[in-house]
Amino acid sequence: MLSEKSRPVIEQTIGVVAERIPFITPEFYRSMFAARPDLLDGMFSRANQENGSQPQALAGSIAMFASWLLSHPEGYPDELLSRVAHKHASLGVLPEHYPVVHEHLFGAIARDLGDAATPEVVAAWDEVYWLMADAMIRIEEGLYGSRANDVVVAPFRVAAKEQAGVGTVALTLEPADGTPMTPAVAGQYVTVQVRMPDGVHQPRQFTLVPGPEGTRRIAVRLDERGEVTPVLHHDVRVGDVLQVSNPYGDVVLPEGDRPLVLVSAGIGVTPMLAFLDRLVRQESRREVLVLHADRSAATWPLRELHELLVAELPGARLETWMETPGEGDHDGFMDLTGVRLPSGAQVVLCGPLPFMRAARSAAVAQGVPGRSIAYEILGPDQWMLHDDAREA
Ligand code: HEM
Repeated sequence: MLSEKSRPVIEQTIGVVAERIPFITPEFYRSMFAARPDLLDGMFSRANQENGSQPQALAGSIAMFASWLLSHPEGYPDELLSRVAHKHASLGVLPEHYPVVHEHLFGAIARDLGDAATPEVVAAWDEVYWLMADAMIRIEEGLYGSRANDVVVAPFRVAAKEQAGVGTVALTLEPADGTPMTPAVAGQYVTVQVRMPDGVHQPRQFTLVPGPEGTRRIAVRLDERGEVTPVLHHDVRVGDVLQVSNPYGDVVLPEGDRPLVLVSAGIGVTPMLAFLDRLVRQESRREVLVLHADRSAATWPLRELHELLVAELPGARLETWMETPGEGDHDGFMDLTGVRLPSGAQVVLCGPLPFMRAARSAAVAQGVPGRSIAYEILGPDQWMLHDDAREA
């Protein structure tokens, strides 16, 4: 809980801090990586630094946390903290890293705000930082403690590499040493560290898709302008070894017997495959409406598996939207206005941001409460920074 001393200071300064944070954070990262270049080897994504998405995510989350503390004196934004803690744990963030971030972030704040960064202002924001850090450290410790091993990543050998639709490859990874494997919950992801041509390791998260027992299987959509996926597509071969984290992620299959609506676009199909596979294993009779949008049947990642899993579930039905439609597809972008969602449904969304926003609005318009809609963003979570609907 925020102290009575800091509360008015945060109230007075949250506007200016939120406004300056986009300028403060690039400077924060520059100074941190100058002092700790090792953090760019395996932990931080260089690409996210370049495109600015991670600086915004971290910055925005601190401002959001502060405004949450002002409006909810008794509680914490658990969803936000949990999402970040899972991501951190998949990257191996430890308690001793927090003072490093603190030092460089607050150095950058002091330089940016100049005289406005009075000792009083700095102390109040310090309190916010450590409240948030301590909450995340606690969650991260709980996550680390509940894995089957105490390593951040373990070596996995590429056992199979298959084309899984135009522009996507599926990699099946088997353990390359005796590290015990933590069982994954359907919908979770792993961080994969890939060695770049200059020797630096770059991490990326991939949702686990159904694969052979005792393996991790991921589907990788090629981003030609990206740094990691071209290496996974063009250079990594069967027999190569990659470093793979324990599974993390809190967007998991809503258990129970309420109807489900699984809405995906493109590579966003991956968590849905994990959910459907789990339902098949449970011999579930739940009503499941599966909605998928793609450019065409050819680009739809792991299409056969998606269709097969739906066919195996007596309560499941699939509807598709294709920019180049085939027989039975709706033409063009997904439009949920004409689709009747089952009443009492839980909705899970995964795909590009504009796609999820549209799907979410359509679901809300049909009376689905915001709290029954979960979403997984593949990449730094920026939606939460701009969308007040998240509290609905
Ligand atoms: C990602 C917040 C401390 C390393 C993130 C994200 C947020 C965030 C919001 C984006 C999560 C997403 O993908 O949705 C914070 C806050 C911190 C903090 C508020 C302090 C109170 C740290 C520390 C480290 C760290 C101490 C380690 C030195 C990372 C990394 C990512 C990340 C590596 C992944 C994104 C990327 O590679 O660009 N953090 N974080 N964070 N954080 Fe933190």
